[in-house]
Amino acid sequence: MELSDRRIVVTGGAGLIGSALARQLVGDNDLVVVDDLSNGIRESVPEAATFIEGDLTDETVVAEAIDAETDVVFHLAADKYVNADEPRNQFETNGEMTYNILERMDEVGVEHIAFTSSSTVYGEAPRPTPEDYAPLEPISEYGAAKLSEESLLSVYAHNHGFTVWNFRFANIVGPRYGAGVVPDFIYKLTQDPETLTIRGNGRQEKSYMSLADCIDAMCYVVEHAARPVNTYNLGTRTTTSVNRIADIVSDEMDVDPDYEYTGGDRGWEGDVPKMRLSIEKLAALGWEPSTPSDQAVRQGAREILDDPENEPHLS
Ligand SMILES: NC(=O)c1ccc[n+]([C@@H]2O[C@H](COP(=O)([O-])OP(=O)(O)OC[C@H]3O[C@@H](n4cnc5c(N)ncnc54)[C@H](O)[C@@H]3O)[C@@H](O)[C@H]2O)c1
Repeated sequence: MELSDRRIVVTGGAGLIGSALARQLVGDNDLVVVDDLSNGIRESVPEAATFIEGDLTDETVVAEAIDAETDVVFHLAADKYVNADEPRNQFETNGEMTYNILERMDEVGVEHIAFTSSSTVYGEAPRPTPEDYAPLEPISEYGAAKLSEESLLSVYAHNHGFTVWNFRFANIVGPRYGAGVVPDFIYKLTQDPETLTIRGNGRQEKSYMSLADCIDAMCYVVEHAARPVNTYNLGTRTTTSVNRIADIVSDEMDVDPDYEYTGGDRGWEGDVPKMRLSIEKLAALGWEPSTPSDQAVRQGAREILDDPENEPHLS
């Protein structure tokens, strides 16, 4: 569907990816942003958007945001931390938000939804991992919730006439990168430029996609794929190891620390140590990333360092 002259709801639109998407869409569309600001920044929502501060587990908030005039919902709101302190709560909350949104859409006759899923649905799969890889065996509650939410979207596509876009993201890096390896290293090196403690053995290796590429790809797929269920990996063809990220961040900060390792092959429980998604399906639709993984990491680090307002928090 073409993304102009539409009434669009972006959930999680005060977050890293949602606010960038809102900025992209606001010029040509009537935009409603919903976010409870649990991890979002109010100021990052474009002024021209209607902003609703509210928790999407509350059905009245969902009803306020989505009405019969809505053309499409971009559903990005989620508790996104893989090693959440309360995984059961995370699983239930993320699922409840999605169910509330789907029920409300069905109630008022809105049939288009784009959903931000994740590479974590694949668990520890062979690489590069295509969208039709099976069996899907997530290793975190976060990934399990994403998979169950995708499944629920499928039900609405097949039984209620919805068109669904599922985006299985690699790691997305941008100027505000919640808890994640880049701001984690920046924070640690600001505290102590001599020594950097790296979680795991440093050989974890994943695909990092720039925020700009991520937004561009999402919009492209929504505009070009029209099956009932459209599931696409969004990532880069290249990967970056954690050791390489440490080198890039050190270089950008002009420091030369000794590296210390906590050991083991992964950063934390539920961490998939090696991830690279096949993007052949995306390429066949006509879209290619413009920024390779190393460059996305360097760009993200520089943007965080260049923004004095940015306070990276520890993961
Ligand atoms: N950043 C990544 O690398 C990455 C990778 C894979 C998937 N994703 C997915 O993409 C989406 C956006 O990620 P992001 O990095 O922008 O995260 P983010 O935390 O910056 O944005 C999510 C937003 O959702 C809001 N939110 C959370 N719970 C809510 C609730 N109950 N009601 C209303 N708002 C709520 C938060 O306040 C936040 O602003 C998420 O669904 C995430 O799981 C992100």
